[in-house]
Amino acid sequence: MKELKAAIIGSGGISHYHIRGYLSAGVKVVAVVDPVIDRAKEVAHLYQIKDVYGSHQELLQTRPDLDLVSVATPNKFHAPVTIDCLNAGRHVFCEKPPGMNANEVLEMKKAAEKNRRFLLFDFNNRARPESQALMNYIRSGQVGRINSAQAIWIRRCGIPGFGGWFTQKAFSGGGPVIDLLHMIDLALYFMDFPPPDYALAVTFNDFAGDRRFKGPWGLPDVDNAVVDVEMAAHGLVTFKTGQVLFIRNSWAELNQREEVSVTFQGTLAGGMLRRLFQRDGLDETAIDECQLYTMEGDYPVNRAVLVSPDPKMGREAAVVNFVETVQGEGEPLSSPDQAVILMKIIDAIYLSAEKREPVKIEA
Ligand SMILES: NC(=O)c1ccc[n+]([C@@H]2O[C@H](COP(=O)([O-])OP(=O)(O)OC[C@H]3O[C@@H](n4cnc5c(N)ncnc54)[C@H](O)[C@@H]3O)[C@@H](O)[C@H]2O)c1
Repeated sequence: MKELKAAIIGSGGISHYHIRGYLSAGVKVVAVVDPVIDRAKEVAHLYQIKDVYGSHQELLQTRPDLDLVSVATPNKFHAPVTIDCLNAGRHVFCEKPPGMNANEVLEMKKAAEKNRRFLLFDFNNRARPESQALMNYIRSGQVGRINSAQAIWIRRCGIPGFGGWFTQKAFSGGGPVIDLLHMIDLALYFMDFPPPDYALAVTFNDFAGDRRFKGPWGLPDVDNAVVDVEMAAHGLVTFKTGQVLFIRNSWAELNQREEVSVTFQGTLAGGMLRRLFQRDGLDETAIDECQLYTMEGDYPVNRAVLVSPDPKMGREAAVVNFVETVQGEGEPLSSPDQAVILMKIIDAIYLSAEKREPVKIEA
């Protein structure tokens, strides 16, 4: 099989998982792109990658040999960079969130279809062993129809810095709802992406400028920083099928601790996967659980699903799935149609919070 060549656009924290994912899939990573050229050089040096570029346009002009690109920039650039790469004939693996809003993601989907290229998104939590185990139960019919689910990613002290792009709406599109959308996506994946009907949500901005609520990552922390996104959200989404999804997300809220979980109630079984943190934001302090809730004869039974947890949280496995999809050796873990539904829900959550009323979600 032909050796595929990849480039990474955006050389920040997440880029390392993309590079390691490609390397483990036997892909040659040939270039790193970042307007902060020293950062690109540092990452390229670490993995002995030969070329660095200051913009994706320069990359596309000078590298006709390129097959795959990863878009790992701040959210604002996901759509324009992805569309340019698809129009240049490259397959794209784009970080989450898919875009700033559903309209952008529709344009990305159209570009993928027009150019007949794969466009996958980094919903890495789908690639975790716990998620795939629960998905096996769901696909085999043992769960029945999922009536209801709860998607939670709440932090107590987890604002990603002050003054970086994460806390500026113009660059991120929003706070924890759009940043921590993984559990909403995972619940929808388990529910088979039913068409949404209504959203009702409330957001809160308490603790927005309070440094005690900052997460434990080395991100920018400047004086007079712009912090204009929500700090917490509580919401409800109904679906045209009669299903329902509760949502909680926070970066800063007086919760007991960070929790990342999806719980669902099916007609034959319920289920849950959960990661509880001893210390917000530090994966190495996490405790994982995965369970199935059934009736066996006369007895309610809780089954512990024992899998070997993936310490990388599916981040490399999702890249490997992208490569296998392009090579025709695997089914894609995500699709642009699913990303559009997810972003319509996110848009509706923000609109409902702004208008203080339920919002109808158009198909
Ligand atoms: N899947 C996950 O678990 C996960 C985890 C963290 C971040 N992310 C996502 O990955 C993306 C990047 O996050 P990060 O934490 O690496 O951010 P970061 O701030 O550490 O890095 C972003 C990099 O992109 C560069 N950049 C800015 N504009 C660019 C452009 N037009 N072209 C190329 N590079 C550009 C910046 O200079 C910076 O080096 C975000 O969309 C974020 O939501 C995903």
